[in-house]
This record gives sequence, structure tokens and C-alpha cells, in this order.
Amino acid sequence: WEHSSLSICVLGASGDLAKKKIFPALFALYYEGLLPPNVQFYGYARTKMSDEAFREMIGGTLACRIDARERCGEAQEKFLQRCFYQAGSYDQAAGFSALSVRMASQEAVLPRANRIFFLSIPPNVFLDAAGNAADVASSRTGWTRVIVEKPFGRDAASSRELADGLSRHLSEDQIYRIDHYLGKELIENLTVLRFSNSVFEPLWSRQHIRNVQVIFSEDFGTEGRGGYFDRYGIIRDVIQNHLLQILALFAMEQPVSLDAEDIRNEKVKVLRSMKVVGPEDVVVGQYRARGKLPGYLDDDTVPKGSLTPTFAAVAMFIDNARWDGVPFLLKAGKALHRRYAEIRVQFRHVPGNLYRSKQGSNLDAHTNELVIRIQPQEAIYLKINNKVPGLGLRLDTSRLDLQYNTAYQQAALPDAYERLLLDVVQGDKRLFIRADELEAAWSLYTPLLHSLERQKVAPELYPYGSRGPVGAHYLAAKYGVRWGDLNEEEDE
Ligand code: BG6
Repeated sequence: WEHSSLSICVLGASGDLAKKKIFPALFALYYEGLLPPNVQFYGYARTKMSDEAFREMIGGTLACRIDARERCGEAQEKFLQRCFYQAGSYDQAAGFSALSVRMASQEAVLPRANRIFFLSIPPNVFLDAAGNAADVASSRTGWTRVIVEKPFGRDAASSRELADGLSRHLSEDQIYRIDHYLGKELIENLTVLRFSNSVFEPLWSRQHIRNVQVIFSEDFGTEGRGGYFDRYGIIRDVIQNHLLQILALFAMEQPVSLDAEDIRNEKVKVLRSMKVVGPEDVVVGQYRARGKLPGYLDDDTVPKGSLTPTFAAVAMFIDNARWDGVPFLLKAGKALHRRYAEIRVQFRHVPGNLYRSKQGSNLDAHTNELVIRIQPQEAIYLKINNKVPGLGLRLDTSRLDLQYNTAYQQAALPDAYERLLLDVVQGDKRLFIRADELEAAWSLYTPLLHSLERQKVAPELYPYGSRGPVGAHYLAAKYGVRWGDLNEEEDE
């Protein structure tokens, strides 16, 4: 590090993601002293802007964690002094060579210059920008890494096209494909929980697990993003990537080591063991207006009569010895009643349960359930049957409960982008998607996506702020499953 400088450039610097996530994450890494001393940050976009105006724009988005509030103003000032802006188009080399010259002028003092480009730009300019960054603005003395984020195409074919395009300019080891869910604390913890606790791993199979649910729920609609969203829909936006990645980590075999390649080998294996999702195993929904809350079709950026799903529930199966016959239910929706994401593992009934008659008639309510709450209020809890204290013998369901905000009071949880950006700086690819993983993920969903579009399947409407379409319950019931989050209020 003493002999190298680092330039980090965000393409699409005036966009939402850059302002809300990327620059705040870079700032957090900077003030925590996790970046090399000789680091500079660049914004690149089409809009003309001075360095000063750029600093003002991102300055408003930088916040410090509670424990660092005192030195925050000074840290912001120092960070912003290292921020520069270059205007230019994505499809022409000129802007990129100007950018490269500016980077070089800051790097000149050190023998090695490393560069990172974060492509936070629309899909239609993606390849041009990647090509120009790689061909015109790559470092000549150190490494160059490029971070890309979904959409990685719309289906298997367009994703392959994109991958081929990128590979003309960059080698696989230079490409970092982000799925920001992999950067979330509880997702990183998933493998720790499983592989370093002897009480869990032996239960992690069809012998003991009845079903697994991965649930993503947002309490806001596509407000302002309808134009982007309509081309993709919830399956491409959340399920085929975030939820499927969680599922792969949940269900994979134990990797040979913690090396990125070993972990990703196991993820690819389990993805390739999954059954391609058929139209009979999906329910799609779209939110409609409720009172003053607008429906999806009321968004001006959404085409009239759009059939794009804003909700979907999917049943998936893994054809291997560990998981044969176990339903994995994935559910994601916008404009629902609450915002949360969680994994629910429902265990089998206790065979010959002695206490059956003491538990009431709803047996499902009395099987063990492990809940991993990804957000908000990160938590891991296990629902167990317990004797109600006192005379007599009555059972109820209680929790073994790990709430992060009480167990780890001092620890401020880093944002997913902080973790992921630091990994890119350090060249750690564990949390990034490899090309073959992406291909496997697309092949599971492409036939379904094509059939929904070809057959113009009308989504089931659900009111803004509700729990989503009832079809999701029928889908679960088909496999003898009840969604665990229905009990969530009682769980709180
Ligand atoms: C993004 C999706 O990948 O994830 C958005 O495109 C979604 O539609 C977002 O809102 C959710 O991320 P988080 O971290 O806020 O749960």
C-alpha cells in the first residue's frame, strides 16, 4: 500500500445508487481508515459539473456512524478534498482519456497505480462504458477492477451476450459482479451459523427440514423507478438474484475451504441441481391503488396496461440427496404491509410426540421454526415448544432469541456496499457472482419469464399495503406449507 495509489471512479455518479449508497460507503471506509492513504475518488457522468458542485452534491449524503460523530465534519472535509468530477459520454473515448489523465496526475508520485471502476449506469450504455474504461482508462502500472451490478441482461441469452461483450475488454478476474444482498451481515453469517455450530448442520437436510422460505417484502411501490422496473419485474429485480443467492448459500454443501473459488464451486453445484421453475410453480401479482396510495399502473413512467409483476411467489426444488422433495418457497413483493427480509426454516413434526395432546390442534404452529431476519432489526431465533411455568402441564411456543441490537450493542452494522467495496479493494471475490453462477441462475428462470410474457399472464391484483395476493397461499398449500410470516405479528 505504501507504494501504490488507488483511484476509485463511479460511472453514473449523479444517479440514485451513487448518491444513496456508493459514495456514503466509500466515505465510511475512508474515515475508518480502511483505504490506502493515497486514495482518490472520481465521479463520471454526462452532466457537466465542476469538482466543487460535485462535492456539494455528494457532501449532503455523507453521514458518520454514532461512534464517529465527533470527528465527522473533519472527515467529510478531507474526503471531499479527494473527490473529483469528470464529465463525458459513455460511448466515446474522449471523456475516458481525460479521466485517465486526471487520475494519472494524482497518481504520479507512486510507482504503482490501481484503479477501480464502479459501473452504476443504465444497461444500454453498459458495454460501451466498460469497454472504454478498460481500453482507455486502465492502469498501466497496477491492477484495474470493474464492478458491475444488475441488470445482467433480461434472460439467459442477453446475459450471455453481455458476458461475451465484457470478456472482450476484461478478464474474469477483473470483473466483480455485485449482488448487494451477499454483503448483508446476516447473509455473511449464514454459513458461519451453519458450518460452525454442531447443533445446526446435522439438521440441515430433508430428514429434518420440512420446507424453507425466503421472504422479501417492501412497504413502498416503485415510486419514481417505474420506467426501469417495468422492463424487469420483481422476478428479475429480486428473486432470480437476491433470493436465489440466499438459497444457494443456504443449501450448498460445505466448501473445501473459505476460498472464493471453493465457495462459488459449491454454489454453482447447488444451483445446477435445482429444478427449472415451471409456470405451475409461480404466482404473480401487481399492486393496485388503495385510498390515496397509488397503484403500479398509476405511475406515469409505467406503460398503460402493463402486466409486469410487482409480486411473485415461487416454489423451487433441489434434485439432490440432501434436499430431494423439500419445497423452497421464495416470495418477494413491493407495496406490501411491511418492510422486511427473512429466511424461515420449518422443521418436521416430532415423531410420536408425547406431548401432542397438550399442544392444541394446530400442529404446524408447534413445529420448530428457525428464523433468520436479514432486515430490519437483524435477528436469529428458534421457536421451540416449552412448558408454561407453573402447576399443570401446558405447552406454548417460545423463542431462543438472538436480537442483534441487544446482543451487539456496540457494533454498528456496516452497509452491504461498504463490505463489498472493501472486498474489491482487497481482491476478495467470495461475495461476488462468478460467470457460471450467473448463467446457472438465468437458466432456472428464463423459461418461466418467457412463458409469462408470451402468454401475457395477468397478475393477481393486491391492494397497496396488503399482504399480497391470496394465490401465494394456494401455492404454498399445494406443498403443505403455510407461510411463516403470517405469524410474524404474534412473533414480535
Ligand atoms: C434492489 C432492487 O436490488 O434491491 C430494488 O432493484 C430493491 O427494487 C432493493 O428495492 C432492496 O434492497 P435493500 O437492501 O433495501 O433491501
